[in-house]
Amino acid sequence: MKMGIVIYSQTENTHLTALKLKEKLIEKGHEVELEMVETVGENPPRAKNVDLESIPDITGYDGLIFGSPVHAFTLAPAMTSYLDQIPILENKRIALFVTKSLPFNWTGGNQAIGKMKKICQSKGGKIVGNDIVVWRGDVDKKIENMIRQFSVLF
Ligand SMILES: Cc1cc2nc3c(=O)[nH]c(=O)nc-3n(C[C@H](O)[C@H](O)[C@H](O)COP(=O)(O)O)c2cc1C
Repeated sequence: MKMGIVIYSQTENTHLTALKLKEKLIEKGHEVELEMVETVGENPPRAKNVDLESIPDITGYDGLIFGSPVHAFTLAPAMTSYLDQIPILENKRIALFVTKSLPFNWTGGNQAIGKMKKICQSKGGKIVGNDIVVWRGDVDKKIENMIRQFSVLF
């Protein structure tokens, strides 16, 4: 399958996760591109409108994985702005992940995933999986679990 992993990452955790995921999906025989959402300048955690420097084009992919950090108990505003701007997602299988640092489940992970889901579904995308990687403790194991879960979805 032709797959795109499209992420926003401010301090590399989401990027590192996506690189490992990409490697695994290529091993499974998929054609995979990793694309970055980039902002123009600083982007405060509760910003309403974030100007984007790069807006990856997803039209050529059959499968998509969107990844983002949690910021201020919800989805990072850069990812919200990106998802709001992309065109129709009809007929695309989509998996979602977020990375975060706080361990409790009321600290934004579910909120962020919920937001991504809502936007993607409003554009006709079919959400086939999601995961939250909490960046503390045995992070490698958490990434491996996510990759194992995602690699059977596509
Ligand atoms: C401005 C800011 C706000 C954050 N807010 C939260 C939060 O509400 N909940 C949480 O669990 N982690 C929060 N974090 C931690 C990040 O989600 C976590 O470090 C994430 O893995 C960073 O991903 P990145 O390295 O791809 O940018 C926040 C980090 C930053 C910089």
